[in-house]
Amino acid sequence: MQRRTFVTTALAGAASTVALPRLAQAAPGEEWTNVVFTESDPGHWKDVEKLHVPQVKIDGRKLTVTTPHPMSEAHYIVSHTVVLEGGKFLDRKTFNWKDQPTSEHTLPDGYKGKVTVTSTCNLHDWWVKSVTA
Ligand SMILES: [Fe+2]
Repeated sequence: MQRRTFVTTALAGAASTVALPRLAQAAPGEEWTNVVFTESDPGHWKDVEKLHVPQVKIDGRKLTVTTPHPMSEAHYIVSHTVVLEGGKFLDRKTFNWKDQPTSEHTLPDGYKGKVTVTSTCNLHDWWVKSVTA
């Protein structure tokens, strides 16, 4: 792959990663059904949604994300990602199966606005939740 093609592809991938949570929130139940999963639109994972929707707690600048999901070598939460208003990437935490699926992040000083959190399961895909800080 030529460098220019690689850079273009990498940028397009990064842009879609940031844009998907916004699109998922804008149109739940439509084109992102069974692509991006939310509490209100769990798609074909409806029976396991309570184990996958990330729980978000904000205390001052401290943001804690927990996925109430059991962890085993065959089935576990892979990562949490935090994106701020306007698609601004804040942080990401990856897990292995021996970890607890809880992550802590620090919001920018004085931040007020939307916080979108993702939680990825190795078997049950990509879950999104947005809250307001
Ligand atoms: Fe799962």
